[in-house]
Parts: sequence; C-alpha cells; structure tokens
Amino acid sequence: MSQHNSLTATLARFKIIPVIQINNVEQAPALAHALADNGLAVAEVTFRSAGAAEAIRRMKQARPELLLGAGTILDGGQAEAALAAGAEFMVAPGLNPRTVTACRALGVPFIPGINSPSQIEQALELELSLLKFFPAEASGGVGMVKALLAPYQQISLMPTGGLTPDNAGDYLALPRVPCCGGTWLTPTQLVDDGDMAAIGLRIRQAVEKFAIRP
Ligand code: 3PG
Repeated sequence: MSQHNSLTATLARFKIIPVIQINNVEQAPALAHALADNGLAVAEVTFRSAGAAEAIRRMKQARPELLLGAGTILDGGQAEAALAAGAEFMVAPGLNPRTVTACRALGVPFIPGINSPSQIEQALELELSLLKFFPAEASGGVGMVKALLAPYQQISLMPTGGLTPDNAGDYLALPRVPCCGGTWLTPTQLVDDGDMAAIGLRIRQAVEKFAIRP
C-alpha cells in the first residue's frame, strides 16, 4: 500500500481532523489530553505560529498515541522541523513541487492543497492522491468537490476551510472524501484562553455527531 493510501485509510477512521494554531506552547500538553481524552486522537498543528514544532513535540510527549500532522508547511525546512518534532504527515494550503520533493526525501507523506482541475493534474503528475481541497467553502463547497471528483477517479479529497458541524457531514457523505479538517473544534481564541472544557465539549459533540470510532 502506498504511503498516501495508508494515510488515507488512517485519516478516514478519524473523519474530522482538528486544525490547531498554538500560540503558547504551554497549552500543548492540555490540548493533547483534551483531544485524546475526548475520543479524537488526531490533529493538524499549523506552522502559523513560531512555536509550532515545539507544540507538536510537547503534545506527542504528553500523549504518544496522538496522530499529529503539521499544517501550513510551506517549505522543506518546516517539514524537517515538524518531522523531527514528531509530526507524521504534512499539509499545505497549496501545491509547491519543491515541498513535495522535500517531503519525499524525508519519507513523510504530504497532503498539498488544491482547488482546481489543473492543480489536481499537477498533483497526479507528482503521484499524489490524497489532496486537501482548500479553501473548501469559498471554492465552491460540496458541489465543487463532487465536480472535481468525477473526472479524477484516482484521488481523495480532504475539504478544509469554512467547515462547520452543520456542513461537514455533507462533505463526508461523498465518496472519496475520507476526512475533513477545520478549526471549529479548536478555535484559536479558546486555545489561547486555555479553555479545555469548551474544547473538550466541542470534540465530544463531533465524536458523537459523526460517529467517530477510530
Ligand atoms: C486551514 O488551515 O486548514 C484552515 O485555515 C482551516 O479553515 P477554517 O478555520 O475555516 O476551519
């Protein structure tokens, strides 16, 4: 099974991938517990904050069973730092062939962002089959995902950007949408405030609503 196929199967069990921006690394262990204790032991930690790699390292240390990805990976240096910290997959908003090459050299799966047929063909050329559809709602939402999946039978899409508890199910109902991502479970304000009770509640609600049994 290719690296992408096995990652797709793993992420399909989680269905929802919380996208987290951690501005204060001190919050990382509590966040790790909030995810794992409430039944969703997965996250994409974005490199939009300076401490992202350190946050991944602390989360993994607190709960080694967490599957952690690194998001907003814009170059090979960030991928290397994320991998060293314990991230097991890389995600980006766009498709940069140099980042694809860097991740391949590191041996870590990379999920690039796309929102058009030409970008999908570029991804296929690079032998990538699991792609982030970003920004999902602004790029046409569920209708656009259906339209993009139709001609490209080889790909799976992870919609992210503008998803909510109300529309995520519509995406997940489509074939070859193994999972979707978003910040609604872990909004930056709640993370900054260290409000793990509110975050835990959001996670439990999602686990219940989407029948997540990883
Ligand atoms: C991402 O980086 O994947 C997005 O910023 C998540 O978008 P959202 O905040 O609309 O969920």
